[in-house]
Amino acid sequence: ALRRAANVHWQHLDVDKQARARGKGQPPRCVWLTGLSGAGKSTIANQLERRLCALGYHTYLLDGDNLRHGLNRDLGFTPEARVENVRRVAEVAHLMVDAGLIVLVCVISPFRNEREFARGLFAHDEFVEVFVDTSLEECERRDPKGLYRKAREGQISNFTGIDSPYETPAAPELHLHTEGAKLEALVEQLVTYLIPASR
Ligand code: PPS
Repeated sequence: ALRRAANVHWQHLDVDKQARARGKGQPPRCVWLTGLSGAGKSTIANQLERRLCALGYHTYLLDGDNLRHGLNRDLGFTPEARVENVRRVAEVAHLMVDAGLIVLVCVISPFRNEREFARGLFAHDEFVEVFVDTSLEECERRDPKGLYRKAREGQISNFTGIDSPYETPAAPELHLHTEGAKLEALVEQLVTYLIPASR
């Protein structure tokens, strides 16, 4: 069902992403934050976007929770639905990078295969995989939306870390250990990685 349609040809566009981004003096990037629910992906990405915005960069934040209200509203949390969810998010991020933006993506993206699919859409230095590493115990202790409690009580099935797997990244560009870390310090690590000259 997801195969490329027949008789559809790639249309060459004259203006490319370097040209689109040139006026902004920024490197188009896809910063892909992966981790358990409650690991801190959205919190870190929000703060990172504030910093990048303040530095004058043109950014966008794609948050899995929000996309599931619109583009991905037809998808649930079975493994198949997550594969399709992550595929769509990756394709949208790819379009935004093509538009010259620094795109921050927050999705659990629990499967290595789909994260590698996303990586494969981008040039080598454009894709920055960030493992937001927070233990299941800590995520469950934080439980900001009360979802872990519901999952433990059997009210939610297919919950990541409980009855649905999370495959940890093998070689992320950045590995952030959030427990005992200050948000500002984690964000600075990201800013320094993305914009080395900002130091
Ligand atoms: S995925 O796995 O990448 O397709 O998930 P994602 O699009 O990032 O959506 C995760 C958010 O949906 C809420 N939620 C669940 N998460 C995991 N498992 C189940 N079953 C589930 N049901 C709802 C949850 O709030 C996730 O948000 P974050 O920000 O990650 O906590």
